[in-house]
Amino acid sequence: MEKELIIQKLIDKIKGQFESDSSGHDWFHIERVWQLAKQIAIKEQANVFVTELGALLHDIADHKFVENFEEESINRTNQYLRDLGVDQEIIDQVIHIVLHCSFKGGVEENKMKSIEGRIVQDADKLDAIGAIGIARTFAFGGKFGSILYDPNVPPITHKTLTSYQKNRTHTINHFYEKLLLLKDLMHTETAKTIAAERHQFMLEFLDHFYKEWKAEI
Ligand code: ADP
Ligand code: NI
Repeated sequence: MEKELIIQKLIDKIKGQFESDSSGHDWFHIERVWQLAKQIAIKEQANVFVTELGALLHDIADHKFVENFEEESINRTNQYLRDLGVDQEIIDQVIHIVLHCSFKGGVEENKMKSIEGRIVQDADKLDAIGAIGIARTFAFGGKFGSILYDPNVPPITHKTLTSYQKNRTHTINHFYEKLLLLKDLMHTETAKTIAAERHQFMLEFLDHFYKEWKAEI
């Protein structure tokens, strides 16, 4: 099967799984990450097909919501791609991406070995910053019952994954524990350039937010 047709068929298969998610992992997140990753892969001269497959499947089993995340990731990736006749050698590269993509508080060593996987990580992180990143953050905060902000609770960062997962404060804190750290975690030059602009926009957003919070006119 032609690569383009495989991508299209994979999209048809997975779209339904994401459509109703409101935690920031809806189909449109996957679509944006896929589009970004594809462009970065072309610029960085990586394997575009492997990158595209990895991007489309990177959230196929989320470690926050799926108990046996590793087993599920491997099974689902194998199943989707074998059905489409993809070579096992390519599938194994995609499994590596799916298993090691997540941010997990940014405190653990990055186990992603391939350039294609690092590009998917860059694209996923780019979708967590800038205007879209801000929107997703407040959507996530609302869904999990966090308040917007509390000026009496100073920003905290985390040294361990457990601390990141357990210590939820207000949603503004998510900028300090994650969003503002992401630009320095980009792997590729292409992503670093895009991230710099999105980062600047978040700083401006926070400026405005605090001004309006204090009812400064
Ligand atoms: P990723 O897809 O990068 O692994 P996550 O699953 O951690 O991202 O989160 C999905 C979206 O929700 C992201 O935009 C992320 O920044 C946001 N998010 C994650 N945790 C929180 C939180 N505690 N408060 C607010 N937003 C969050
Ligand atoms: Ni994602």
